[in-house]
Order: sequence, then C-alpha cells, then structure tokens
Amino acid sequence: MSSQEDAPVDWAALRYTALSEELDEDQRWTTWRTVDRSSRGPEPWPRWLVTSQGALDTELGLLKTGKEADVFLLERAVPGAESCLLAAKRYRTAEHRLFHRASSYTEGRRGRDSRENRAVRLKSGFGRQIEASRWSQAEFATLKRLWTAGIRVPYPVQVDGGEVLMEFIGEGRGGRTAAPRLAQCDPDPDQLRWLWAQVVEGLIRFGALQLVHGDLSPFNVLVRGMDGAEPELVIIDVPQVLDLVSNPNGVDFLHRDCRTMAEWFVRRGLQVDAEVLLAEVLSAAW
Ligand SMILES: Nc1ncnc2c1ncn2[C@@H]1O[C@H](COP(=O)(O)OP(=O)(O)OP(=O)(O)O)[C@@H](O)[C@H]1O
Ligand SMILES: [Mg+2]
Repeated sequence: MSSQEDAPVDWAALRYTALSEELDEDQRWTTWRTVDRSSRGPEPWPRWLVTSQGALDTELGLLKTGKEADVFLLERAVPGAESCLLAAKRYRTAEHRLFHRASSYTEGRRGRDSRENRAVRLKSGFGRQIEASRWSQAEFATLKRLWTAGIRVPYPVQVDGGEVLMEFIGEGRGGRTAAPRLAQCDPDPDQLRWLWAQVVEGLIRFGALQLVHGDLSPFNVLVRGMDGAEPELVIIDVPQVLDLVSNPNGVDFLHRDCRTMAEWFVRRGLQVDAEVLLAEVLSAAW
C-alpha cells in the first residue's frame, strides 16, 4: 500500500470540491461537456452561447406542458460573468405520453439497430428509454439540418437522452417572456403580409431540402417582435419532420401544412391560396 493511500482524508477539502451537493434543487452543472461533439449544435457556436465548463444550469420555470414533452426555461450561466437563456424540451417516456405520433410520419424511414427496434416493440425499460430519446434525437438532428440550411428555427444547443436544449425564443432581447405563438397574435394588415411572406419562404426552403414539417400550424410557429413593423417568424416542434419523396404520405402532409397555414391567414383577411403555395413548394423540391 502506498503512503499516499494511507494519508488521512482531508474532509474539509473534499467538501469544498463536492460543490454539487450544495446546488439548489433546480440547479445542475452545465451538461455541455458531458455530451460528445456530435450531440452539440452546429459550429461555429453562436457567441451568445455559454460553453464554459464552470457554468450552472438553473431551471427558471415551466414554459409549457405538451402532449409528449414539457418545455422548461433554463438559464446557463457562470455567475457574475456570462449567461444565456435556453429552452429545454424534455420528452416523456411512452407511458407518460398523452398520444402517439402516427406511424405514418416514420414510414419510409430506415430502421436502425434491430436490437433497439426489438426493445421498443417489447417495451422493456431499455425500450422505453430509447423511445423517448428517439424523438429528442430526431428533433435535434432535424433542427441542425434546418438551422444549417438557413431556415429560421431555434439554434439547437445539444441533445442528452430525452432532453433537447435549444435557443430560447423570447419576446424581446434578453427578456424571459416567451415569444407568443402565431395563433395568439393579432397582426395588422402589413404585419400579416410580412408574416405570410416568411411562411412561403420557410416552406420553400423546406421543399428545397425535400423535407415536410408535417405538423405545421399557427401553434408551432413563434413570433418575435410583434410590436414592430417586421415581426420575425420562428418555426418550432420538428421531431416528426418527414421526407417529401421517400415517405408515401409526404405530399399529403405537405398539402395539409399548406392548408392549415393558409386558412389562418385567410381568416385574418389576407387572400392567399394553399394550392398555389403547394405548387411553389413542390417546384422547389423537384
Ligand atoms: N425554443 C423555444 N423558445 C420559446 N418557447 C418555446 C420554445 N420551444 C417551445 N416553446 C414553447 O413550448 C410550447 C411547446 O413546444 P413544442 O410545440 O415544441 O412541444 P409539443 O410537445 O409538441 O407541444 P404541443 O403538444 O403543445 O404541440 C410551444 O408552443 C412554445 O410556447
Ligand atoms: Mg407543438
């Protein structure tokens, strides 16, 4: 036995290094370094993002309970130095979910590891965990792809198990109030035209990637800066995004997305046509 191992334990020093015991219930050490590089967002990392290993994540509250996931507001900060706000979308395991996304979304997606697929089918503990993290992995990968293509979605920060961390879309700069969903907004005629132009541009870019959102509605679109002349539209909730070409229901889902969005704008008094939008998106894809 070495003399080092015989040395008496310095409990005071240990307590000092075991700082995590003193974290509040709603705090944890940043998870930035505990995931590998492929589970982090596209580089270069944005300047506002706190990447320090000494940062703390503090949960500031629940933003919204959804059918499959809960979204929390998180602050990642090195106290006294730097901080940023993040949205943490946490998928529930299968038994806590209020509904299942239709398997028609995933038709045509190639199956991965058959051991995983078997576990999901058999609903083992391992299977349930995988099912929750499949949605988070799918959402993170899609956000990365969309972000990289210049589509306005929250910047994907990282994925860890069933949790996706992303840019928090706030109402104003640095504010802790979440941007409203389009469904809650009451745009004036100029804002309405401005917002529709962004819907068209966004969908054409999806089309150019041969992707379909698949659940696009005024509830899955956030609007930043409604108090100004040029509000910005941010598309969210993308785990079910599907392939326009290989998914046999691709065009039907796209058609539905176009109709849902156009109907909202028509109800607000803007004369737009879902069929024209569909044709534009399809021509961007082929
Ligand atoms: N990045 C974000 N920034 C700000 N708010 C967000 C963000 N992501 C999600 N939210 C809020 O959380 C809500 C739910 O998010 P999302 O639609 O992604 O989850 P969901 O589980 O599909 O919810 P639902 O079942 O209501 O559709 C959004 O409507 C929005 O209000
Ligand atoms: Mg949603």
